[in-house]
Amino acid sequence: MLIGKPPDVPSSAITPRDKYLNRRRFLRNAVSSAAAAGVAALGAERLAQVISPGISAFADTRLQTVKSPLTTTGEQLTSFEDVTHYNNYYEFGVDKSDPAKNAGALPTRPWTVRVDGLVNKPKTFDIDTLLKLRPLEDRVYRHRCVEAWSMVIPWVGYSLSAFINQCEPLSNARYVQFLSYYNSSVEKWTSESNIDWPYSEGLRMDEAMNPLTLLTFGLYGEVLPNQNGAPVRIVVPWKYGFKSAKSIVTVRFLDHQPPTTWNEQNSHEYGFYSNVNPYVDHPRWSQKVERRIGLPFYAQRRATLMYNGYGDQVASLYNGMDLRKDF
Ligand code: MTE
Repeated sequence: MLIGKPPDVPSSAITPRDKYLNRRRFLRNAVSSAAAAGVAALGAERLAQVISPGISAFADTRLQTVKSPLTTTGEQLTSFEDVTHYNNYYEFGVDKSDPAKNAGALPTRPWTVRVDGLVNKPKTFDIDTLLKLRPLEDRVYRHRCVEAWSMVIPWVGYSLSAFINQCEPLSNARYVQFLSYYNSSVEKWTSESNIDWPYSEGLRMDEAMNPLTLLTFGLYGEVLPNQNGAPVRIVVPWKYGFKSAKSIVTVRFLDHQPPTTWNEQNSHEYGFYSNVNPYVDHPRWSQKVERRIGLPFYAQRRATLMYNGYGDQVASLYNGMDLRKDF
């Protein structure tokens, strides 16, 4: 986001999900066996971090899911490898490969999400309560970054609206703000950028209540890897990826538009709405095309779709707005 042009990074080879997960299971089993055999000097957890950073050795990472009618179909999924090793998570470094290396430090249990602001009564939800609030759905969404690259990701979660209904917002709540976990002694890379932490994002209430907006706990049927925003993040598929705050600890209901991280960094480049829009160029590059990560070079470039292809479901939210002004 701070760079002068979209990064031109060669994509890694596509690893099919099963192969990747088998490798993970193999590693987990190897770690268990090593521990059982008494390779205690390093410690099993530490060994797991060395072999596969960010993945706990013994955690059961599989999530029970149901199919979702809101899934996007027909496009090749981006490999688990690329989804989890080409990330933006500035708290853990500014390079795309940094979060996979560094986010193992994020403590994802215990974890609570505090709800405050314009609500009937402030509440705190434990992550395990949130996981059980609704059946978890597999939802494949296009994921388009403002840097003009994209992926197709099978997320796991349920509509944010189900959670918002539990929060009992007051009738004057017009916006909802999401704040990410911030602890500079854990996230030692926060000083690499000029951001005023914690990471903050926000949606208008009707955007937050749209069924597509996903409270997200996993991907590829497994709990979210830390680098993708464990243990819980937001995914808003018709907006540029930066609207989707990771590792959220606070949800705040407001009667005014909240300050948001990238808008505060540079309001000329990153608007509050940030709907995927090929007709509004980023001041430093075109948004008309995007590069699909992980595909062979000749197949990567594709036209960017208005609202990332979700216009049927969301265009009406913006009736009467000038999306060049409200970009
Ligand atoms: N959330 C936090 N807390 N910190 C971040 O740096 N980066 C954003 C968004 N959420 C970011 C964040 C940006 S710029 C993008 S494109 C997406 O996360 C990337 O999500 P992914 O790494 O899972 O693809």
